[in-house]
Amino acid sequence: MRWLRFCAAALACAAAANAQGLTGRWEARMYPVDEARKMVLALTQQGGKVTGYMLQPNSSGFPLLEGTVTGNAVTFATERPGRGGPAGSPPPAPIRTTYNAVLQGDKLVMTMPAGRGGTTSQLEFTRVSTEVPKPLAPPPARIALTDYKPVPYNGLAKTPPMGWNSWNKFAGRVTDKDVRDMADSMASNGMKAAGYLYVNIDDTWELDRDGNGNIRTNSKFPNMKALADYVHGKGLKLGIYSSPGPFTCAGYEGSFGHEAQDAKQYAAWGIDYLKYDWCSASNVYENTSISMQAAYAKMGDALLKSGRKIVYSLCQYGQQNVGEWGAKVGGNLWRTTGDISDRWQSMSNLGFNQQLERAKFAGPGHWNDPDMLEIGNGGMTDTEYQTHMSLWCLLAAPLLAGNDFRTMTPSIAAILTNREAIAVDQDKLGKQAVRVSPAGTARNEGDLEVWARPLADGGYAVGLLNHGAATAKVTAKWSDIGIKGSHKVRDLWAHADRGAFADEFSADVPSHGVMMIKVAK
Ligand code: GLA
Repeated sequence: MRWLRFCAAALACAAAANAQGLTGRWEARMYPVDEARKMVLALTQQGGKVTGYMLQPNSSGFPLLEGTVTGNAVTFATERPGRGGPAGSPPPAPIRTTYNAVLQGDKLVMTMPAGRGGTTSQLEFTRVSTEVPKPLAPPPARIALTDYKPVPYNGLAKTPPMGWNSWNKFAGRVTDKDVRDMADSMASNGMKAAGYLYVNIDDTWELDRDGNGNIRTNSKFPNMKALADYVHGKGLKLGIYSSPGPFTCAGYEGSFGHEAQDAKQYAAWGIDYLKYDWCSASNVYENTSISMQAAYAKMGDALLKSGRKIVYSLCQYGQQNVGEWGAKVGGNLWRTTGDISDRWQSMSNLGFNQQLERAKFAGPGHWNDPDMLEIGNGGMTDTEYQTHMSLWCLLAAPLLAGNDFRTMTPSIAAILTNREAIAVDQDKLGKQAVRVSPAGTARNEGDLEVWARPLADGGYAVGLLNHGAATAKVTAKWSDIGIKGSHKVRDLWAHADRGAFADEFSADVPSHGVMMIKVAK
């Protein structure tokens, strides 16, 4: 008996030795809403090193890299697959994120890397077990979808959709009230009059499923039907967001296995637009083009059969040459890139460098989407926002504003509602601009570029752009655009006719700025 007691004590000691420091399972609530979305840290500390993994509701787990403990502070990194990149290029480098946490009493307080809206938030982890965590379970076998019936065109988005989306400014904080406020503003601040129609709720409206599998909204959106009625009452349309996977990118409930049911629910609520974001579908489906296509076609078909006309926006960051099949799965638009952020570097990289090979896929009913607008969110100058708007209009991109209209300045409103720029975006011919100087699809290592797109009336929209650090003279040669002789030129930002020009047009363009013109037939 004594011997047994001795053994038990020795075992307990061994366990305690293993369970030193931070070892164990830690859990934190991820969002300041009443739902229990948890982030889990499974940690094993040995001396100054910590190993283990991080689990988010939308992932099958990320191993911790380079975990170190110094006093009360712990730091580690995770890596997840990169997104986007020009079509046909090798997969982008993985995205590495470094996390820092501090042990405060019995809580582990982790500072989250800067999120949308420039906020850094802290997650407070509580230890729920001191046992040495089990190794990360291998991901379940992926589903291989091998075929699908092409989804007929729904007749929508004959020109690129225009509206607003909650993500760039509000991210996980968006509420029913914010959406109503945006609809109120749009109806009265010139946005609706300029053509912005869709008011789109992005991620984080979802709660869970009821006993019959129906998707339920969380407390931020108490009544989706009432919200749709309200938005419709303003002469606007309401959009929503989901994922073909079991979880959205922010770890909320996705549509996996409930595609037809969700589409019917959206129709019953009065939803007019769906953004369908790949996210955790990569943990469920095989990483093949056909599996991805078939997963998107499921929802495309479901929307078509839902009894309501719903714009279908694919969001899979441009993978698997989406331009070649986006329309075939019922898509009206498809993201071509990873996420935009409110910085010149991000915007210009997406706008200038990642669209050229894809121009041929754009046309009435089906558009390339270089991501939503950041205009007015504060991270760029007005000159840079003007370039952002001009480039998106030249690219025939969806124009989804991402700012808060309650605090919009007149100069930002003027950029977003420039009718002459919008007319280019919405041109019925639907031809996306290409870079005519320097021509070709290779990345331009120089500072100056000229982009052009033909318009339905026989004219051309032309952008003269300057990446450089100083004002520079940029010249658009008619021969580069493919026209000859003398043509009238109109400045689409100054709203002024500049006269007729033979062979070329030049302008001094400020650093990061644009001269956007229309060259008449
Ligand atoms: C992805 C998308 C973003 C946004 C978030 C929401 O990152 O690319 O546009 O929808 O998910 O979680």
